[in-house]
Amino acid sequence: MGKATLSLADDISGLTSELCRAVGLSHSTNAAEEYADLVREMLGPGGDRPIGQPPAWPSDVADDHTPVEFSLAVDRAGRPAVRLLLETLGEGTSIEANVCAAQELLPRLAERYGFSLAAFDAVADLFLPKHPQGRFAWWWSVVLRLGLPPAFKIYFNPEVRGRAVAGELVEAGLDRLGFGGAYPNLRRRLRPGDELDRYSFFSIDLHTQPDPRVKVYLSHHDGDLAQLLRTAGAARQVEEEQIREFTAIAGGHRGRFTGRPLISSLSFLAGDTDRASGFSVYLPVRDYAEDDEVALARAHALLAGHGLDRALLDRALTVLARRPLNEGVGLIPHLSLRTGRPHTGLTVYLSAESYAVTPPRPESLAS
Ligand code: TRP
Repeated sequence: MGKATLSLADDISGLTSELCRAVGLSHSTNAAEEYADLVREMLGPGGDRPIGQPPAWPSDVADDHTPVEFSLAVDRAGRPAVRLLLETLGEGTSIEANVCAAQELLPRLAERYGFSLAAFDAVADLFLPKHPQGRFAWWWSVVLRLGLPPAFKIYFNPEVRGRAVAGELVEAGLDRLGFGGAYPNLRRRLRPGDELDRYSFFSIDLHTQPDPRVKVYLSHHDGDLAQLLRTAGAARQVEEEQIREFTAIAGGHRGRFTGRPLISSLSFLAGDTDRASGFSVYLPVRDYAEDDEVALARAHALLAGHGLDRALLDRALTVLARRPLNEGVGLIPHLSLRTGRPHTGLTVYLSAESYAVTPPRPESLAS
């Protein structure tokens, strides 16, 4: 099928099944086909539009407005997890239409996969106002692992009622899910003025256990390692040295990140009454590298430093790299490090580039 007729859902579901096969998530079953169908369903009615036409909704999931971004996490035993960040596209082109389509999907997924809606019900009225502001109101993540059912999260937008009340929304969300005591500790680590450290996502796990799991994400504009470490202080058991080394390697030994912001997240698990359990950093490597060859070299260096095998990433790229790595930037949009509970790990984000490729960056801008 040519690009003129291939739909977005065809493209993304095809990539999903090929990616799952390439990294070994589908050996004895037809899991790859099931995942492809799941992703097609989750894309919603907007997935039917041919990718030869410009995107109808300017999704902020990926730079070229593809409403999906893949990522690959590898653990010490060499086991991969493939993850998709995804925005359901409704009929028509508005955040309201997308929320409506996602809302319709939710009970179907809950029934099929047996997850609880308690956490969702506890915070939905906060984060889903009638007239959402900003660039999104509801994104999903789906984690695919060998031999396990898919695992889902919902990402809400703390600025959905305007930037001025983002902190209050996060505080209320944490409070309703039992983590209210941890908010002051987080709040005081942010730079004054609400402009530099902004709440970017509030995520809840959709799972079968009774304990809620929440992540709060911050974008650190004009940020540096010091601000990451300050934020990390709102979590227990953070490995500062790992954060330092990750930021140096992934960021190409830059001190200050004046392009796209550094992002961090704090993850709250049962019992986290004053501090978070885990801390993660997401570095938008595409703004700080000339091209994807450079970004991949940094990913390889990080994997090697953690004693992790690069073969899975290389296999994933045989599927997702649909052009030479040095002919664009953003195929690898972010690199990320997780520290603390539940476990340490590296994640490499991978774009579909269904609509467009960003040309390589002149060296002077990247450095
Ligand atoms: N595209 C947006 C950004 O780069 C949102 C996003 C997509 C994101 N994947 C992410 C943010 C991974 C942090 C980490 O900010």
